[in-house]
Amino acid sequence: MTGLSDSFQRPINYLRISVTDRCNLRCTYCMPDEGVPLAPHNQMLSFEEIRSIATAAASAGITKIRLTGGEPLVRLDIIELVKMLAAIEGIDDLALTTNAILLEKYAVQLKEAGLKRVNISLDSLQKDKFRSITRIGALSEAFAGIRAAHKAGLEPIKINVVAMRGVNDDEIADFAKITIEKSWHVRFIELMPFEGNQAANKWFMPRTEIEQRVRATGELTPVFDQTGHGPARYFKFPNAKGTVGFISSVTEHICMSCNRLRLTADGKLRPCLLSDNEIDLREPLRNGATGDDLKNFIEQAVANKPKGHELVNGSKPKKRNMAQIGG
Ligand code: GTP
Ligand code: 5AD
Ligand code: SF4
Repeated sequence: MTGLSDSFQRPINYLRISVTDRCNLRCTYCMPDEGVPLAPHNQMLSFEEIRSIATAAASAGITKIRLTGGEPLVRLDIIELVKMLAAIEGIDDLALTTNAILLEKYAVQLKEAGLKRVNISLDSLQKDKFRSITRIGALSEAFAGIRAAHKAGLEPIKINVVAMRGVNDDEIADFAKITIEKSWHVRFIELMPFEGNQAANKWFMPRTEIEQRVRATGELTPVFDQTGHGPARYFKFPNAKGTVGFISSVTEHICMSCNRLRLTADGKLRPCLLSDNEIDLREPLRNGATGDDLKNFIEQAVANKPKGHELVNGSKPKKRNMAQIGG
């Protein structure tokens, strides 16, 4: 078999690249009010360094790249990076996960640079609640960003909703109903615990309960052609234009179909979102590592990919929070 596969025979073809740990929002479940300590600029990978790693990854068998943050659109000259990555042979899906605040400004340029699609984090459809969850965001800006993405053809549009009891659970049905009229793929995500962050203790909701709220709205049938190989499971209301998905990272064994590696903004390869094990690429790169050397490190990371997370045994990521990994 060509391409990468790990020691549990999972094909690995997807690299998530975090381009910054900075964000223009301060979501209560993700960060403290004052933000999180940020890595100094000289510790961040340059665009050339990211390109070298992405090129080596493509030569090893990676075909799909997603840019994440923090918020990837706050990285200066992000359009240039999209152009550089779009030009790499073998990358056939180039996507970005964003809070949409800057999308109105960048959607057309992103599309022209070669970005295929966007996934948008949106946890409320209500102006005041959006502000209280994000602390500083304006819902009108996020909506303008989503409209701009649609107009620019950055599709399909997936909306990520982290479902939180007592915070936005009263909006689950509203989010789900949107998929009847719009071709959006609305995905409800279970809130994952991180060390030192009490959000999951306060607000966690299991998929079973989230799904009950959605099913109260209408009958759901499974959709298989939408699933790809990611963690989301998709369903559809009768005659709906879009789909409803569930990402049950905590309560289900989604790891069996995991297909991804992550690269942090400071140059560490992270084989699993929820395990602190990392392989440094920045120092080798700055000491002259070749494309083949990078490819070897990538193969090593794939070989070290754990079978799955250990959340049920109480093991949470300690070294980094979600904003420093990029989801
Ligand atoms: P698609 O390619 O469009 O399916 O994107 P995606 O689901 O891989 O990417 P996105 O950034 O939209 O991820 C949505 C959310 O799913 C993330 O923010 C995480 O909360 C969760 N998630 C994504 N990848 C993983 C993973 O590998 N493990 C776990 N446990 N959760 C993940
Ligand atoms: N659990 C699940 N998803 C999270 N996100 C941020 N923190 C968490 C968490 N603890 C989501 C954001 C965004 C993506 C990058 O990660 O809402 O969709
Ligand atoms: Fe993959 Fe780790 Fe996420 Fe499981 S927790 S799906 S192994 S990245």
